[in-house]
Amino acid sequence: MLACGSAHVADHAYRAVHAATTENPMAKANKSNGAHGFPREISLPNGAGIMLRLMERRDKDNVLAFARALPQDDLLFLRTDITESASVDEWIRNVECGDTATVIAEANGEIVGYASVHSDQAHWTRRVGEIRVQVGATYRGVGLGRQLAAQIFHLGQLRGLKKMAAMMTPDQAGARAAFEKLGFQVEALLQDWVVDRDGRPRDLLIMSHDLEGLSDQVSA
Ligand SMILES: CC(C)(COP(=O)(O)OP(=O)(O)OC[C@H]1O[C@@H](n2cnc3c(N)ncnc32)[C@H](O)[C@@H]1OP(=O)(O)O)[C@@H](O)C(=O)NCCC(=O)NCCS
Repeated sequence: MLACGSAHVADHAYRAVHAATTENPMAKANKSNGAHGFPREISLPNGAGIMLRLMERRDKDNVLAFARALPQDDLLFLRTDITESASVDEWIRNVECGDTATVIAEANGEIVGYASVHSDQAHWTRRVGEIRVQVGATYRGVGLGRQLAAQIFHLGQLRGLKKMAAMMTPDQAGARAAFEKLGFQVEALLQDWVVDRDGRPRDLLIMSHDLEGLSDQVSA
């Protein structure tokens, strides 16, 4: 998907006109926490307290620390290498321009997970948001991914999205199982579509979830 930070001239022109007539609700919301009920404290079923808030520029170093502590298997399949400073800079630019909304989960002041939705108003897939959910190894399987997905579904609905797409490789069996539990269905399997961090070609599995008439499957 085209990142707003790397948009070419024609896209800038489109955006200038588009911004004058419609305001991307996420660009507005992302300017500060305090919108859409963030920050918000929740308790996981095991009693752990989690602070959920929208990602901001000041989160950069903690996001890098979180990414660099992820298990090797996760790093292998990262869609963009968020262990790299430049990738996190681009992510933050996308958040600030409203193309991406990211909810960060913190426990005791440390990032333990996040969920993002990315869409592009200038793109013909603008009704579809790409969701990413990443939970740190020590917080998996205790309901945090479900909570984060619920928050990001809500933000997706607010920005008018009709569908969420999650992308992974078929090798990520745990992630596929978790997304199926969240109500996602397989949309497509594309052969040799991506390369992993080691440069090896992998198939790409696209799973999707309709936001219209959203069931309570992922409600927090
Ligand atoms: C996928 C991921 C986000 C799930 O997060 P999580 O916090 O462990 O998920 P939850 O504990 O909220 O579980 C959600 C549901 O999925 C199920 N689930 C979670 N991990 C699972 C696994 N490895 N195998 C089977 N089911 C699993 C849970 O049982 C739960 O279902 P239930 O509520 O009906 O019991 C997490 O494993 C992760 O960060 N993986 C690496 C990143 C990734 O691959 N992301 C996907 C691409 S965007």
